[in-house]
Order: sequence, then C-alpha cells, then structure tokens
Amino acid sequence: MRKDWSTSTGSGVDLHLDLAAGEGRRDGLERALRSAIRSGRLAAGSRLPATRVLAAELGLSRGTVSAAYDQLVAEGYLLARHGSGTTVAHVPDAGTRRSARSVAPLPHDLVPGTPDVTAFPVEVWLRAARRALNAAPSSAFGYAGDLRGRPELRASLADYLGRARGVAASPERIVVVGGYVQGLSLLARALGPGAFGMEDPCLPFHREIVTNASREIVALPVDGDGADVSGLGSGRRSPNCAAVVVTPAHQYPSGVTLAPARRRLLIEWARSSGGVVIEDDYDGEFRYGRQPVGALQGMDHEHVVYAGTCAKALAPALRLGWLVLPATLVDPVIEQLRLTTLQVEAPGQLTLAELINSHAYDRQIRLGRARYRRRRDALIEGLARLPRLGAAGISAGQHVLVRLPQDGPGEADVIEAARRRGLALSGLAEHWHAGHAATRPADGSQGLVVGYGTGSESAYRAALVVFFDVLADLYGGFETATSSLASVS
Ligand SMILES: Cc1ncc(COP(=O)(O)O)c(C=O)c1O
Repeated sequence: MRKDWSTSTGSGVDLHLDLAAGEGRRDGLERALRSAIRSGRLAAGSRLPATRVLAAELGLSRGTVSAAYDQLVAEGYLLARHGSGTTVAHVPDAGTRRSARSVAPLPHDLVPGTPDVTAFPVEVWLRAARRALNAAPSSAFGYAGDLRGRPELRASLADYLGRARGVAASPERIVVVGGYVQGLSLLARALGPGAFGMEDPCLPFHREIVTNASREIVALPVDGDGADVSGLGSGRRSPNCAAVVVTPAHQYPSGVTLAPARRRLLIEWARSSGGVVIEDDYDGEFRYGRQPVGALQGMDHEHVVYAGTCAKALAPALRLGWLVLPATLVDPVIEQLRLTTLQVEAPGQLTLAELINSHAYDRQIRLGRARYRRRRDALIEGLARLPRLGAAGISAGQHVLVRLPQDGPGEADVIEAARRRGLALSGLAEHWHAGHAATRPADGSQGLVVGYGTGSESAYRAALVVFFDVLADLYGGFETATSSLASVS
C-alpha cells in the first residue's frame, strides 16, 4: 500500500510523494524524495518547502523532515544554502548513466563509464566481421544449439583470459553474455537464496539490478585495502549471503586495488560459507604501473565467478561480456539466459573471436592503454597544481577519484558549478548505499569520480580546461589550466 503525499513547495512547485507502507517515516521520506529527483519530477533548482511546512503537511515531526533533508544534502540530491532554503541539486545520470530516460547532454563530459568511442576501430571490426562471417557455418545464423555462446568465441576467450588476466578458464565454463549487466542479472536470478554483499560505494545501477531480482543487499565497507568481508562472518554465521560482488583490480569508484590479505579473506569467506565471489573485472586490462594485478578467480575457480566485458576495451554498444563459472553454476545461469533472451547475438561473437585470434584485440588494448595513460597523466598533472585536492585510484582504468577537502565547497557545489559551465561531473554521493551510514567513512568523504575515457581527444582536452577552471575558482591554487594539457594530443 502506498500513501500519496501532495503538497506545495514555497515556490509553488507541486510536490507529490508516495510512502510505502511499513517503511520508517524518515526512510520513506528520503526514498520518496530521491525517487522524485531521479525521475525528474523534482527538477534541479526547485525549492523544497521549509521543514516546518512539510512536517505540518505530512504529519511528521520537524526533526524527521530535517534529518531526511540533511541526509539528501550529504548524498548530493539537495543543496542547502543559508538564507535561500533547500533546493534540488543537479543529479547527472552520472554513475548510473544507464537511465531509462534520455537527458540533454552537456557540451563537456567527465562522467565515468564510457571509453573514447570515437576511437572504435570500425575498419578493423569490419574486416574481422567479413572474415568471421564468411568462415562461419550456416548453423551460426540459426537458433543456438549451445546457449553458452559460440564455441569459436569461448575457445578464444579461454586462451586470452588465461594469458592476459590469469583466469583459469575452460570453454565449457564460459557463458557469453550481453555485457556485465546481463551477467549480473542472470547470476542474481540463478544463485540460491540469500543476499548479495556489494561494495559501499559501488555503481548504483548494479545495486538496482540486484534488487530488481528481489535480492537484499548487504553493504561491504571499502577502505585503502579494498572491500572488507570480515563483517559477514564465516561458516554458518554467514548463511544469508549467496554472493559478494567485488571489483578487485580497480574498485569502482574508489580505484583501490584489493590487497592480498583481503583477497585471501574473500576466498576464505566463500569456501566456509558456500557463497560465491563475483569478480567484476571491468577495466582489468588497463593498468599503468609495472605491477600486473591478476584476476582473483585464479586463486579459486570453484568459488569465484569471473566477469569480463568489451565495454572498456572496445565499445559498450557491442553488449558483449563473459562469465567464467564454477562448474555447478553453468546450468543454472544458462537456464536463466534461456528464460530471458534465449541467446546472445552470434555475428558479434564470431567477429570478436576473430579479433582475439588475430591479436587485433590485444593491439586495440595496447593502443587504448597508451591513450588513456596520456589522458590520465594530464588530469593528474593538473590536479597536482591544486594543493587542496588529491587524486586516488590512479594506477588503472579510465577514472580517478578526486578527493575534496572537508572544509571547502562540497561535491554537490562543484557538480553544480560545473553544470553551469556546461560540464557534466559525477560525485561520490550517489555511489553510497542508502541507509547504510555505518559503512561510510566518518569524515563523510566528499569526492568526484572523474572519467578520463569519454570523448575524443579534443573533447577531453576542452572538458579538462573547464574542469580545472571550476576547481581553481572554488579552491584556488592554479595558475594556468591549459599548460598541463600539452601531453594530451
Ligand atoms: C563497475 C563497472 N562494472 C562493469 C562495467 C561494464 O558493464 P557492461 O559490460 O554491462 O557495459 C562498467 C562499465 O562502465 C563498470 O563501471
């Protein structure tokens, strides 16, 4: 049962909120406001009613309304300014990016998630597709005999993942999926009962996928050593978690690499509890330091599901990913695939197999690594001129976390200032699990999750100029924004 609240904000905007029965009053109000903001029903800049007014209209205490407002300010949904009340912040589709709604893009974009799709190797792809499709048996164009995916691709992935990522993969245990998102969704339906442990912070879209499969989420704290599962207990003390989902090579969004002791802890947790670890290796190929970081799955292929994707190395729009599964999970995952999309499209799989076999895939990754490293260096050099800011998670991937000082403008202020200059940014706030304040660092960590993959080289350079200008205006300490950009060409 839902209760509808309709009220009118001070600025005359109609505020329609609905509260699910059985929910705490503050939780209900927070959830209803978040959902109104995310869906766009409460637009950026709208002024919310004073706490006293809303409390009276909804029959809540003023303290409950103020606590809900404070929480949403901390999460970046609302802005509180002395003298001008509480207004709705601009919430970019941001960390989620995967919105059902289309929003007008801003001219500059440093939101993480998308690689430089202008560098997609169209000619290389077309040549590989021609070769692969000419050589394919005609049965490849019918319904799949084997729902795990094309045998050509599973064989080339087994070889590639073993040599490039240290994954113990055999073609029988590989299931080709429509990107990591489909893989996670299938796993959330295929595994036995129990919650999913998920890193806090993590990508909000992935939480939605898990809750959409009617799973509870347990928030796992993340510190400088990565995700910590010690709070889950072990053996029969942890019967409620069917899986934990982690990003060991480059935690999303903090960028931390999972420390060896934490890797062991994860494996011990899985062995003693009977749960599985889902390893999201979304950007594992993009490492810039000397130290390679192999896949966790190499430590125990009966308790770890390895999940990989083409989204960073080639393009998200290919919607191609893969799961390397413990033997017992292959059939349950295939059954969920059968009941949802039946199979993954075959021409793309055949083309990718050809790219991997001809080593064009490796070449593409090497080119990408050099490109993203240059872009990252330009970002880091610029940030080094802003003494009050620090960057974390710089050794890999296509994003860094820019930490903001506690005693200055908060992330919502930076995002709003950037938006006014035409630059889309993503903050840390939306990545925290709602209602799990216990796993959040006590300092309230304010930060920007800055993607350096998106856009062509020139678009990226232009976005960086705006970014540094915004930061210099807010935090000072930068003589010239453009001098650090020479290295991006
Ligand atoms: C944390 C994380 N996992 C996985 C992915 C890849 O998802 P998909 O393969 O569904 O495009 C991304 C892409 O941005 C990501 O940020």
